[in-house]
Amino acid sequence: MKIYKAKDYQGMSRIAANIISAQVILKPDCVLGLATGSSPIGTYDQLVEWYEKGDLDFSKVTTINLDEYKGLSPEHDQSYRYFMNHHLFDRVNIDKAKTFVPDGMEPDSEKACADYNEIIRQSGGIDLQLLGLGHNGHIGFNEPAEAFEKETHCVTLAEKTIQANKRFFASAEEVPKQAYTMGIRNIMQARKIVVVVSGIGKAEIVKQTFFGPVTPAVPGSILQLHSDVILVGDEEALSLIEETTQA
Ligand code: F6R
Repeated sequence: MKIYKAKDYQGMSRIAANIISAQVILKPDCVLGLATGSSPIGTYDQLVEWYEKGDLDFSKVTTINLDEYKGLSPEHDQSYRYFMNHHLFDRVNIDKAKTFVPDGMEPDSEKACADYNEIIRQSGGIDLQLLGLGHNGHIGFNEPAEAFEKETHCVTLAEKTIQANKRFFASAEEVPKQAYTMGIRNIMQARKIVVVVSGIGKAEIVKQTFFGPVTPAVPGSILQLHSDVILVGDEEALSLIEETTQA
């Protein structure tokens, strides 16, 4: 694993965007696995800035997002499809037909998940997966559990996750209770994984995830077994770990 420590959120975002840019430049028709949440917003802003300068071309890129709330439509301003359109897809020259997010409006969970696994398979596999890390160690919506779920599945969100996400809704009651998420195998099959973390609130879980035991109780800990993981964090999030590459 490679670790880059940036001074702050902006620095973290620039490093992550640089890695993604390199991927897009080296393989213009690459498949990017993308995440929502507050951690990657700065990364997307930076990518948009470089696109506007003429340095990046997304026309051949395919994207596959990690997850979506079950029951939220693409028009709902808290759906992950809406988030992606707003923060990235509507701002660059990506072909929307090549951007994939699980179908939150599909009520049949089995169908929604099988369809998504097929999309991932047909894409030829994810070249670079961008991840955030939940306060409980979740990646995508793979919550702490007794076993690692392998493929796309429907999850009931942990109370901690609902509490963390309620800031985006009028109240905790309005936060959807279920979501569709890629599974651990889907994520681990990505050829390269970039994890972005910022803020002191993530320091303890970053330490547990990357330096603690590999256990489904901390889902992100499985990343220790991937051969090409890059952890990009700010000083606060990386404050409890030692080996880093200063950036
Ligand atoms: C988002 C996702 C989640 C977030 C995680 C961290 O698509 O799958 O795993 O990456 O909850 O969220 P933030 O970045 O808001 O701290």
